[in-house]
Amino acid sequence: MRAVFLAPSYPPEMQQYTRGLAEVGVDVYGVGDTPVGALPGSLKAHLADYLQVPRLLDDDDVVARVHAWMRGRAVDRVLANWEVMVLTAARLRERFGVPGMSVDAVNGFRDKQLMKERVAAAGLRVPRAERVRTMTEARAAAEQIGYPLILKPIAGAGSADTHKVNDDAELETTLKKMLHVGEASCEEFIEGEEFTFDTVCVDGKPAFMNVAHYLPKPLIARTNEWISPVIITVRDLAQPKLAKGIALGKAVLDALGMGDGFTHMEWFLTPKGEAVFGEIGCRPGGAHLVDQMNYTCDIDLFREWARAVCHHEFKASTERKYNAAIIFKRAKGRGRITRIDGLHEFMQRRGWHMVEQRLLPVGTPRRDWKQTLVSDGYIMLRHPDWDTAYQYAMEAATDITMYAE
Ligand SMILES: Nc1ncnc2c1ncn2[C@@H]1O[C@H](COP(=O)(O)OP(=O)(O)OP(=O)(O)O)[C@@H](O)[C@H]1O
Ligand SMILES: [Mg+2]
Repeated sequence: MRAVFLAPSYPPEMQQYTRGLAEVGVDVYGVGDTPVGALPGSLKAHLADYLQVPRLLDDDDVVARVHAWMRGRAVDRVLANWEVMVLTAARLRERFGVPGMSVDAVNGFRDKQLMKERVAAAGLRVPRAERVRTMTEARAAAEQIGYPLILKPIAGAGSADTHKVNDDAELETTLKKMLHVGEASCEEFIEGEEFTFDTVCVDGKPAFMNVAHYLPKPLIARTNEWISPVIITVRDLAQPKLAKGIALGKAVLDALGMGDGFTHMEWFLTPKGEAVFGEIGCRPGGAHLVDQMNYTCDIDLFREWARAVCHHEFKASTERKYNAAIIFKRAKGRGRITRIDGLHEFMQRRGWHMVEQRLLPVGTPRRDWKQTLVSDGYIMLRHPDWDTAYQYAMEAATDITMYAE
């Protein structure tokens, strides 16, 4: 089997998917903007061939070049696991006539307004929302929807331009900040806790499912630098608290015509116990969520995804053994990391439950916490008992402090 895989080297976890594809017997034809010479040897070992394109985000150009490159060779799959590439993959599938989700289906996972319309049309609960293109349209939408509301780009990622707006005055200041955004979604603010619903699907049905709890909600984590954001996969998916969210998630997959592959949905659980749709992508969650899911079940979803999309099979165990927590750290101060307080003590107390420690070492420059949730690094730990996993994660969040200057 021959698969074209878009962006096999960046983001870095794409290298793992490339490996997964090779491990299930697929010849991987990678397409990226990284020069061949700069590809890691470990990645090259899993590539049958590689096409360097000048501008990976130039959809028309990539489609034309890949089409010319593969001329005369049968293509069985065109795949992408990076949000900005999923539509390009769909266009290539249509061009080559290979099986997989259509451009129209993928649009339902990419366009935040369209996805809400399709999900709502299936009778599911979504925030009331309107697509706005101008200040005037935004003001009119705010009148309709009422405060507090959320303003965010239609095709956003990373909460970069997501704003909570509480009144008319805030609307005006927020609109000024969003002038560079072409199309925005103006929507009802949903109060409540926020979770993910993640799957690996075969023919639109989850062969693997996951729920993770955001602590706190991403919008709060991303507007307060002092917070160490925590995300914990929930071991017990059968608990009543999650039932409505999981049912919502499955119904959303049907409503949007999911095919094969990863999905990553976000949903709210309101104080009244209602599950409300947030958004969904037909790709895995970022910021090491796939690693967390792997640690939850002791499996390799990089390979299992490949098996699902290429062979319509999922062979790994779905038994959930742990609640796996990730704790992202942000250093105090600017510049380079100068010291990490509390890590040694934390390791002594809880090291047994830690599965990864990837804090930036002393001497390295800080990352931009607004650009990457991973910030100045992370710790991952796991425990079979939810309360214990939660407690240890909160200890890591409060007791470990990084400094920079
Ligand atoms: N209607 C809403 N009500 C309440 N909170 C919201 C709403 N829409 C978005 N948020 C908050 O803003 C965050 C970012 O919004 P959203 O997920 O739609 O944007 P994004 O740019 O795709 O972010 P990411 O890439 O981090 O998922 C959400 O995780 C949630 O915390
Ligand atoms: Mg989101």
